[in-house]
Amino acid sequence: MSSTGAPEEAYTATPFLPDGRAPSLPALRRAAAHCRGCPLHRDATRTVFGRGTPHSRLMLVGEQPGDQEDRQGEPFVGPAGKLLDRALADAGLDPADAYVTNAVKHFKFTRAEPRKRRIHRAPTLREMSACAPWLAAELAVVSPELIVVLGATAGKALLGSSFRVGEVRGTVLEREVHGRPERLVPTVHPSSVLRSDDRAQAYQGLVADLEVAARTLSS
Ligand code: URA
Repeated sequence: MSSTGAPEEAYTATPFLPDGRAPSLPALRRAAAHCRGCPLHRDATRTVFGRGTPHSRLMLVGEQPGDQEDRQGEPFVGPAGKLLDRALADAGLDPADAYVTNAVKHFKFTRAEPRKRRIHRAPTLREMSACAPWLAAELAVVSPELIVVLGATAGKALLGSSFRVGEVRGTVLEREVHGRPERLVPTVHPSSVLRSDDRAQAYQGLVADLEVAARTLSS
């Protein structure tokens, strides 16, 4: 129910998914470009779909595209993405081998004043659930051996609203996700490293968690 007592409009990407039982990644990407499943498409420049091959053994899931990703149409190409690539390489993982995506496919932001810098806003649970069919479809196609969960929003989208990154980071979880048995290693979002007072220590923590993912993939 909304604050006025009227039933809340259901947000969902489901009607925008391509027909057919096993759409390819290019078909999903084309369909997602027209998604109007929640209001976030109105202010964003474009849908930012996942990037990578359908045979990636590792899937990385972030929160939502940021300012740079919204402009360029690719996930993790801004400052957080550059830090993530460096941390993956330091952990012995090749960023080019991973399928990279986000829980939410449109940039949500606010502006303090018109024409001022766009400031990231976290998506709501309702927006995350609306977007979940895209993530479920990507998981079904890529069928990764391991998912690295980048931060709280990705964790809630994949593992439920009680997810707390601090409780499980750097551990290997085995859970059912969208009806599929998955192995997941949660860690912090790379943006939290950029915001940290002790960036070096936060970065080492991220690399240590990614090393758990690297060891799990090679075992
Ligand atoms: N942060 C995310 O969670 N995803 C991106 O693609 C970029 C920044």
